[in-house]
Amino acid sequence: MGNLSVGKADSIPTRPKRPLKPILSDAKNVPRRRIGKSHKGRIALLHAIAHIELNAIDLAWDLIARFSNPSLPNDFYSDWLEVAVDEARHFTLVSKRLSELNTAYGDFAAHDGLWEAAIDTKDNLVSRLAIIPLVMEARGLDVTPGMISKFRAVKDYRSADILDIIYSEEIKHVKVGYSWFMFACASMGLEPKNTWQECLKKFYKGNLKPPFNIKARNLADLPQSWYI
Ligand SMILES: [Fe+2]
Repeated sequence: MGNLSVGKADSIPTRPKRPLKPILSDAKNVPRRRIGKSHKGRIALLHAIAHIELNAIDLAWDLIARFSNPSLPNDFYSDWLEVAVDEARHFTLVSKRLSELNTAYGDFAAHDGLWEAAIDTKDNLVSRLAIIPLVMEARGLDVTPGMISKFRAVKDYRSADILDIIYSEEIKHVKVGYSWFMFACASMGLEPKNTWQECLKKFYKGNLKPPFNIKARNLADLPQSWYI
């Protein structure tokens, strides 16, 4: 951040600029993401991960721009800037892997759940942090180790290694999300656990799905009593 001063952005677009492809579609039109010996399911999964990573870049920048406020400490901006840089690296790693498998980001339909959640929570920093890092990204921590094992089982070590990098850095991102959620609650006089659970009821369709990766969630500081 250096000595840059923080202003307040006037108009933040609801949606970021995106390439013409992938076409955004219902989950039912997105190819099945099954990790097997054939390339097809693995490519579909890697494509879905690339789409998540692209969203994650935009989500970090959206947080910085939409919720900029002189009352937030500079660390808020530098933390999310670091997240944006990590997410850009993740997107690049997965995109390169797709090209090694003779395909590219944009070749398949993708679903828009992450950005829909961003739109739902665009008016409130507490809600945004409650849902995106503490629900959506935490869910990533639950499912990624299983994907890594499956990639290794079919000897796709390149994809497994990329997911290993993403997994360890996503723990850090959830931790950053948790710490700023706690900060935002404290500065508004809100009790964090109840506030998170209220946000979940209001903005998250469906229930949290066990099994939870308690080890990773603990590393990210997420209290078990919130989600179990
Ligand atoms: Fe990521």
